[in-house]
Amino acid sequence: MRKHIKNNVSWVGYIDWELETFHGDDYSIMNGSSQNAYLIEEEKTVLIDTVWIPHRFEFVENLEKEIDLNKIDFIVANHAECDHSGSLTALMEKIPNTPIYCTATAVKFIEGQYGKRGWNFHVVKTGDSVEIGNGKKLIFVEMKMLHWPDSMATYLTEDNILFSNDAFGQHFAVAELFNDKADQHLLYKEAIKYYTNILNPFSMMLTKKLDELAKLNLPIDIIAPSHGAIWRDNPMQIVEKYAEWAKAYQEDQITVAYDTMWEGTQKIAHKIAYEISKQSPNTVVKVFNIAKADKNEIMTEVFKSKAIAVGSPTVSNSILSSVAGWIEFAKQLKFKNKKAGVFGCYGWSGESVKILQEKLKDAGFNVIPENIRSLWNPEETDFEKIPEFVTSLLA
Ligand code: FEO
Repeated sequence: MRKHIKNNVSWVGYIDWELETFHGDDYSIMNGSSQNAYLIEEEKTVLIDTVWIPHRFEFVENLEKEIDLNKIDFIVANHAECDHSGSLTALMEKIPNTPIYCTATAVKFIEGQYGKRGWNFHVVKTGDSVEIGNGKKLIFVEMKMLHWPDSMATYLTEDNILFSNDAFGQHFAVAELFNDKADQHLLYKEAIKYYTNILNPFSMMLTKKLDELAKLNLPIDIIAPSHGAIWRDNPMQIVEKYAEWAKAYQEDQITVAYDTMWEGTQKIAHKIAYEISKQSPNTVVKVFNIAKADKNEIMTEVFKSKAIAVGSPTVSNSILSSVAGWIEFAKQLKFKNKKAGVFGCYGWSGESVKILQEKLKDAGFNVIPENIRSLWNPEETDFEKIPEFVTSLLA
């Protein structure tokens, strides 16, 4: 089913109400998602992107109900990842000679995934354009590393629509399609979660790309990403947010994340949270058990934080595997300008605090020397160290 976007532009994507995870199980989906594909019907008919492999037959079937597939003059593949290129195999069975406009890297990645099928690729780079009739054209802008090396965006003149692909998206099912129709709380929550867990590692490149886009001086009325809501009401709000998020973003927040074996490390976590509020009542405090809470949601809170406190008891001369895996994920997300303090209980050897400090330093955090290291269960003498620990985190 097509949905009208503006003039001769329609949405022809797939709303994935039932999706629970993305990138395998690496990204949790709480409010559905969508793969957005778009159809432009000017003198030339253009399809912008497709949808994920499992939906390829339904996608092609739906598209056939809307138009004669042979009328498609060309396809734009903004990104080779299979959630956007995955229906090409089914579609190209029907229209095998249709040109596909994409970056040189996308050709390699598409052929890498689906094999060399003799498709008619037209390689484009930043600034290249193609006339589509009625005085309109498509301009291509490479978006290298946002978030893959092959990524690009496509701009439609006159209608002033930026088809941004993954950038500015959210994993969020919005049947009403537009940002002004979406639940505003969920829209922001899903946009920042998406930024944290997918785009934050590429923040430096993003800043440069936003500057480059601004210099192109293209009027933008609509930003149409490949996931979630389409930004038509004040579309630049998400660009401004990205500019803010890309610069070592932090709010007045501290996140406490821990795992525990016999509740000792948990007790320290709760005392730390209490002390933060006592010393700095306006600071937002979040507490998570790493083994139980959703890792992408915790990371989003870490992204918003100016400091974190991470706890694990010592086990087998090391730390709990849940915490070790969690720190590895935090390292991948390349957080900048955040402090970290550590804590944990032990029974005999007690290495967890030192290991946590080393791992968090390696993950890019500014680790404070103060720590809470408790033999067996934490006692008053351990809790007495918490005010100094928190003061250092807040400083
Ligand atoms: Fe939505 Fe990078 O794919």
